[in-house]
Amino acid sequence: MADAIAVRNLTKVYGGALKDRVPAVDNISFTVAQGEVFGFIGPNGAGKTTTIKILLGLLFPTSGEAEVLGKPAGDIETKRRISYLPESPYFYEHMTGAEVIDFYCRLFRMGAAERKAKTQELLERVGLAEDGHRTLRQYSKGMLQRIGIAQALINDPDLLFLDEPTSGLDPIAHKDITELIASLGRQGKTVFLSSHQLGDVETVCDRVAIINRGKIVKIGTLDDLLRAGRTVITFAKAGSELVEQVKPYAERVSADGELVRVYVESEENVHSVLDAARGKATLVSVLPQRQTLEDLFVEIVREVRK
Ligand SMILES: Nc1ncnc2c1ncn2[C@@H]1O[C@H](COP(=O)(O)OP(=O)(O)O)[C@@H](O)[C@H]1O
Ligand SMILES: [Mg+2]
Repeated sequence: MADAIAVRNLTKVYGGALKDRVPAVDNISFTVAQGEVFGFIGPNGAGKTTTIKILLGLLFPTSGEAEVLGKPAGDIETKRRISYLPESPYFYEHMTGAEVIDFYCRLFRMGAAERKAKTQELLERVGLAEDGHRTLRQYSKGMLQRIGIAQALINDPDLLFLDEPTSGLDPIAHKDITELIASLGRQGKTVFLSSHQLGDVETVCDRVAIINRGKIVKIGTLDDLLRAGRTVITFAKAGSELVEQVKPYAERVSADGELVRVYVESEENVHSVLDAARGKATLVSVLPQRQTLEDLFVEIVREVRK
C-alpha cells in the first residue's frame, strides 16, 4: 500500500541569532503506511511539533522532502483529506460543545441541516452526546480533547495529526482518549500521534519513532524496540587488562571493586566478550535484559555515555 507520509532527509533550522541556530529537526527520514497508527515520541523540544507543522504545510523545511498522501506537504487538494489537533487547541469557552462543532462545520460551508446532523454524529462518536449543551468552561481537560478530536473529524479525513492529545489528562481520561484514537485506527484512518511519553502510545501504535534533539534515534514496532535489549556480563577477579580487552565489543563497561560489568548489545558480541575474558577473570553471570519502555526512553533521552 502507498505511504501516507514519506519524509526524506528533512531538516528545519529556525531563524534567529546565528549562535542559536541548532536544527529543530535534523535530517530525519521515515515513512508511515496508510492505515497505520504511528507514534512520534520524544521529550519537550525534540522537534515533534515542528515536524507536524512541516507535514501540514504550515512551515517550510530548510532542506529535505515531505510527502503527505502522495503529494508534497502543503498541497491544497491533500489538505481536504487531512486534519490536525494542535498541542494547545484554542477553544471559545463561552460556547457549548455543540456550538463549537457547528462553528467548525460552517467553516466547511455546510448547510444548516447537514451541520445539525454532523454535530450530533460527531458528539456521539467522541462520547459527548450528553454534554453538547454545556459550555466548554464546564468541560474537563479530557472532554476538551474529545471536542478537539470531534473537530478534527469534521471533514472525515484519511489522515489525522494529533499533537500530544493525551498530555495532562488524568488516567481515566487518558485511557478514554487512547481508546478513541485506537477506534480511529480500526476505522482505517491513518493517525500520526505525537507524545512526550512512550508509555502513552504503547497500546495504540502499530509503530513508533523516537525523536530526540531533532534526530530519530529509534524506529519500529514496540516489540522490535524492546527486544533489542542488552546482555549484562559480570566478571569477578578481573584486572584492568580485561576492561581494555572487552571494550571494543561492549556498549559500556563499569567496574565496581573487583566486579566488572560489561553491557553488550548483540549476541555476537556476547561471544566475543566471553572469548576475550577466558582465563583472565571469573565469570559470574550472563544476563539478557529485556528493557522496559521506561528504561528505553530514559536511556535514549539522556543519551547515556558509551
Ligand atoms: N518558532 C520557533 N522559532 C525558533 N525556535 C523554535 C520555534 N518553534 C520551536 N522552536 C525550537 O525548536 C525545537 C523543537 O521544538 P518543537 O518542534 O516545538 O518540539 P516538541 O514539539 O517536540 O516539543 C525546540 O528547541 C524549540 O525551542
Ligand atoms: Mg510540541
